Amino acid sequence: MLIIKTTKELIKWRNQCQHFVDLVPTMGALHAGHLSLCEAIKSKTQPDEKRYLVLSIYINPKQFDNLNDLNNYPSTIDEDLRLCRESNVDVLFIPESSDMYAADTSVSVNENCLSLSLCGATRPGHFDGVCLVVSKLFNLVRPSRVAFGKKDFQQIAIIKRLIRDLSYPIELIAVATKREADGLAMSSRNLRLSKEQRAKSALIYAALQSAKNTNTSSSQELCIDEIGRKLEQELSALEFKIDYLTVVNVDTLKSCSSLDSKALLVIACFIGQIRLIDSIMLHD
Ligand code: PAF
Repeated sequence: MLIIKTTKELIKWRNQCQHFVDLVPTMGALHAGHLSLCEAIKSKTQPDEKRYLVLSIYINPKQFDNLNDLNNYPSTIDEDLRLCRESNVDVLFIPESSDMYAADTSVSVNENCLSLSLCGATRPGHFDGVCLVVSKLFNLVRPSRVAFGKKDFQQIAIIKRLIRDLSYPIELIAVATKREADGLAMSSRNLRLSKEQRAKSALIYAALQSAKNTNTSSSQELCIDEIGRKLEQELSALEFKIDYLTVVNVDTLKSCSSLDSKALLVIACFIGQIRLIDSIMLHD
């Protein structure tokens, strides 16, 4: 595995690379969810096809609206290196911030529709930071395929829009949320949960599943407000602070008024200082 630490070196490598390149962008603290992105992208490659897999690790300061969250973002670089080697990553790109951003960076990339609601409403500027860094990674790596996890459903919808609206010739592969044995969606932030918080966090997915089952076992038009109210009561009683809990269309992120095949039940909640998100399609 080649380890590239500067944008200059990456550009040089890319200019010499004769093959198609796949990209898995991450902020490190790698877990099985990230590895499933590598597997998903590799599974699309024909046995006789030569492609390179680039995985980037960069904790992008521009997407953090909260300095405390940035400073506490987990970093497990030795373990990350081991996991990348195990996953047959060809190139690991780990840039420094001083290299990624000029001190007087003044160009931004904004998505002005899908990023305004849900996580975007509580984390102002977050998706601008994501769009900027992802565009830079696309320009540096010039991948033909990129993989993102469905846990970050809003990020996926926005990156699809970025790819379409800026005409990046890139296929986005959306990979199913990887879960712990008790159902908790894998996230690097889970490392920050105390033992007690970790145990409780499994109840988020259990609650989403129970809402889904209520819906499918009763009438098709079970009131969405009713699902929300019941779930909110259940989770608030367990001392989760709900940020949002709603049903949206998975592509447009607009509120769903009927439970159709695109209906996605989404939640963001705080347990202590840690914000967790999860979602479930209400129809398989
Ligand atoms: O999903 C993430 O880990 C980040 O938002 C990403 C896509 C790596 C951009 O920093």
